[in-house]
Amino acid sequence: MSYPRHNNNESSSSNHWLRKVRLTSFATCLIIGSAFLSSNVTAAEPGMEELKKVLEGQIALMKPELQEKVKGLSMDTKMSLMAILAMHSRYSERATMRQVMTEVLSDFQSVLAGVMTDNPEQTADSARRLANHRIPVGGLLPYLGIENITDERLAILNGFNDSVEGNALKLAAAAEAGDMTTAASLVGPIASGCVACHGVFRGQPGLSNLLR
Ligand code: HEC
Repeated sequence: MSYPRHNNNESSSSNHWLRKVRLTSFATCLIIGSAFLSSNVTAAEPGMEELKKVLEGQIALMKPELQEKVKGLSMDTKMSLMAILAMHSRYSERATMRQVMTEVLSDFQSVLAGVMTDNPEQTADSARRLANHRIPVGGLLPYLGIENITDERLAILNGFNDSVEGNALKLAAAAEAGDMTTAASLVGPIASGCVACHGVFRGQPGLSNLLR
């Protein structure tokens, strides 16, 4: 299977459509599972068609037990998952969530370097790159743990997305406007978003099952 490829340019047309995606039309015609898998969705615009292909591809890669869980999610949850996906324009065919997270950490460190050296260009570019991080192969859900694929658990994803991606974009705008004080003040809220999401969806990295 193949995912659409995009560059990381904010002004690229692909990113433009992603931002303009009308979520209300998703509600009426996109239903993960039945609608997606039977491929009977009529896209009203090229953006929806492309996003639908991405989602179909992700679901097709999932094992049946995960597919079942995803199909059972509420429309609200599916909508917020699609809203998160629509904010990203880079999909990897092979990178795992851990690899993506390592890349995100590098971008975050580059934001810090930019802030600390009073370099608005590095700061803004790195923050935008962080906000538009790659989506791992199969999407986010396969890496969150099957026990977390419930409406209740996934409802909190949106907030984490806002604190990380939302604040990274604000930080980029502040740096571009030459306001490095505001940019610096957003580093903490981003870090809090990372930590909060890890608190819910991740344990301690690298634990060994060879220790008592
Ligand atoms: C949507 C929730 C979420 C957000 C937000 C998030 N992470 Fe993660 N992160 C995860 C999950 C889940 C894992 C574990 C993935 C796995 O082991 O497959 C992880 C793992 C990691 C790891 C460990 C990688 C490894 O080798 O085990 C690092 C480092 C990391 N994240 C950095 C960050 C940074 C930096 C941010 C914020 C800029 C961030 N993460 C934001 C969910 C999140």
